[in-house]
Amino acid sequence: MRLDVVTIFPEYLEPLNVSLVGKARVNGLLDVRVHDLRQWTHDRHNTVDDSPYGGGPGMVMKPDPWGEALDAVRADGDPGIAPVLVVPTPSGRPFTQELAVELSGRPWLVFAPARYEGIDRRVIDAYAEQWEVHEVSIGDYVLAGGEAAVLVITEAVARLLPGVLGNAESHRDDSFAPGAMADLLEGPVYTKPPVWRDRDIPEVLVSGHHGRIARWRRDQAFRRTDAHRPDLIERCDPAALDKYDRAL
Ligand code: ADE
Repeated sequence: MRLDVVTIFPEYLEPLNVSLVGKARVNGLLDVRVHDLRQWTHDRHNTVDDSPYGGGPGMVMKPDPWGEALDAVRADGDPGIAPVLVVPTPSGRPFTQELAVELSGRPWLVFAPARYEGIDRRVIDAYAEQWEVHEVSIGDYVLAGGEAAVLVITEAVARLLPGVLGNAESHRDDSFAPGAMADLLEGPVYTKPPVWRDRDIPEVLVSGHHGRIARWRRDQAFRRTDAHRPDLIERCDPAALDKYDRAL
């Protein structure tokens, strides 16, 4: 998968060299290219923003550098591969595991993280006529810019790519994973030693009884979801849970 990020803070994307995403790059599974938006400015001050039409606080990112940047990134890629534009913004649609799965199936993602009050709307409208465009929010809070959101989205997408996680099974039981545990949060996990500060691990986990263990995990997931995300329980399909129980 190819990833391009156009930003006024290229150094903000340094964490893409670390850990899971960094390893995926080294292994050739991810081709990440970070570009400084200011290279597509033509004035002495490398201006990327201006005051908003209609007045109001803050500044708006100018369309010209963004247009040139996106055209240059496009021209530098395989003409046979369609880029998907991802614009992080608090006013976007919520970023979910479902969208992460969808994006992980695309060969080329181009991220346009904004600073200030956002990018001139015409840029998104113009590219939406030629590219698939997703405006996404990573949560109901406002960051100083979209770069941190790019890191979040990239990590969620990269770990779904074949060969990136060591164990192919390891995202099967993820919270929010499509399938049997859909809409439930993951329950607690334990490892050695069996006693730590006088605390035992739940006995069922060493029972060797796979059916009981699976049932216990499902019950724990349900309790945790009820405590932390009652909204998820509400949209839970009881039939899906029953089907899961019968399979145990
Ligand atoms: N930029 C600023 N806040 C954001 C958010 N919550 N999600 C995505 N991009 C953002």
